[in-house]
Amino acid sequence: MSNITIKTPREIEALRKAGEVTVATLMGVDAMIRPGISTEDINHFVHEDTLRRGARPAPLNYHGFPKSVCTSVNEVVCHGIPNDKEILEPGDIINVDVTSILDGYYGDTSVTFYVGDPSPEAKHVTEVARRSLELGIAEVREGARLGDIGAAIQAFAEREGCSVVRAFVGHGIGRVFHEAPQVSHVGQRGSGMRLKAGMVFTIEPMVNLGTYEVDILDDQWTAVTRDGRLSAQFEHTLVVTKHGCEILTPRPGPLANSDRFSTYWSR
Ligand code: MF3
Ligand code: CO
Ligand code: CO
Repeated sequence: MSNITIKTPREIEALRKAGEVTVATLMGVDAMIRPGISTEDINHFVHEDTLRRGARPAPLNYHGFPKSVCTSVNEVVCHGIPNDKEILEPGDIINVDVTSILDGYYGDTSVTFYVGDPSPEAKHVTEVARRSLELGIAEVREGARLGDIGAAIQAFAEREGCSVVRAFVGHGIGRVFHEAPQVSHVGQRGSGMRLKAGMVFTIEPMVNLGTYEVDILDDQWTAVTRDGRLSAQFEHTLVVTKHGCEILTPRPGPLANSDRFSTYWSR
């Protein structure tokens, strides 16, 4: 179970470049978010933009996933499949999860966007998810425990009246999309393995307004909240360092359609 690879400085540089193209595509998605577009419009953009940048969209054909990006609207927790019949409406929230492969290395990052002005509930779950990722990231440094990440996220999200999804976890990443370790977004401080500099993984908490339980739709991919209430998610890829971590998917500036309603800008 401890087959967690330590990435070399060369590999980390390759992951930085992969992260950079992934973020660039996500910034392009931000610029197109508005009522009236379809989730297939987002898929088309992500696919073309990824190729334009010399990379490949990792989701396409991944265990049979049919599209180049995951688009998860409102009660969809993750793995939403883009569809030209699914039109964004004012008040919707949508997570767009971009994963690109550049020169064999993966970058994986997602944000939840606001379509028009959010309801108080939509804003709450989205801002709790945003902060949950930040608090998880703040736990990461050499010598910390894997469980410290989930503990910090769970304590905060539950204090805010939300729940944290158990069914999906963050993951190691490198030349493989999903590798060890699994990064739970709930847990106990002081539990789990010790982090070492050079480990690369994602943190990607899914935060729900109601129950943390999910159902998978008949398409075998789309995960929805069991109670139909809203869900939001943010994701970064990062590398553990001696005294903290380096985010490998940093954004160059604020997102017009997400950071707009955050209290302060944070990447
Ligand atoms: N990007 C997702 C993650 O964060 C995985 C999507 S798998 C897919 O791990 F097949 F649905 F694309
Ligand atoms: Co991921
Ligand atoms: Co992802």
